[in-house]
Amino acid sequence: MLLPSLRRAALPLLLVSSATLALAALEKLSDDDLRNLPSPGDDFDIHNGALLAPILIPRVSGTEGNFKTQAHFVDFFTKELPSWEILWQNSTSKTPVTGDKDVPFSNLIFRRDPPWAKTGDVARLTLVAHFDSKYTPAGFIGAVDSAAPCAMLMHVARSVDEALTKKWARMEKEGEVDDMLETAEGVQILLLDGEEAFLTWTDTDSLYGAR
Ligand SMILES: *[C@@H]1O[C@H](CO)[C@@H](O)[C@H](O)[C@H]1NC(C)=O
Repeated sequence: MLLPSLRRAALPLLLVSSATLALAALEKLSDDDLRNLPSPGDDFDIHNGALLAPILIPRVSGTEGNFKTQAHFVDFFTKELPSWEILWQNSTSKTPVTGDKDVPFSNLIFRRDPPWAKTGDVARLTLVAHFDSKYTPAGFIGAVDSAAPCAMLMHVARSVDEALTKKWARMEKEGEVDDMLETAEGVQILLLDGEEAFLTWTDTDSLYGAR
């Protein structure tokens, strides 16, 4: 996986995992394009928004709130976006506040590739946010850093899902799929664990999962 080192980021980082996702395809958005962006409705409501509210809890890596947050992401993709593949990247580390105990970290990858994609030959638009929250102060929620970006990425996945289905069906129908020449292009959303430092940000106390 091509992941440049992630710096502390409150907003999702947009990474392009292959140069073949042509930058030349970028176009200026018109006012109409912006008006047509799908609305999340009430799903970002902080009290009972289906996407955001469940993430607005303390979710320090290795704690119950963190596991609940993982379950929220997995439930959402399993129920609402069954075409997306779910991959776990689990690891453990010791931290300055947990002594000899190994803290578990789980990065989650949600991925959708064109049906004709061959293993190892897919370029993916990659959107990333971390979901763990800071160990201190106790009870810290980290709404901007980075619960809201996670909810935004869930909404992005939901908003592009049907368009991807249609686009790929059309490409197959019109014989645009030439797997000898073109690299298939998919999308993946990385929701990463263990970005925050437990005590003070240093090279070793930070980026446990999200490195
Ligand atoms: C990774 O850890 C999660 C719990 O955080 C667990 O549910 C999942 O099964 C683990 N996956 C793998 C592949 O070990």
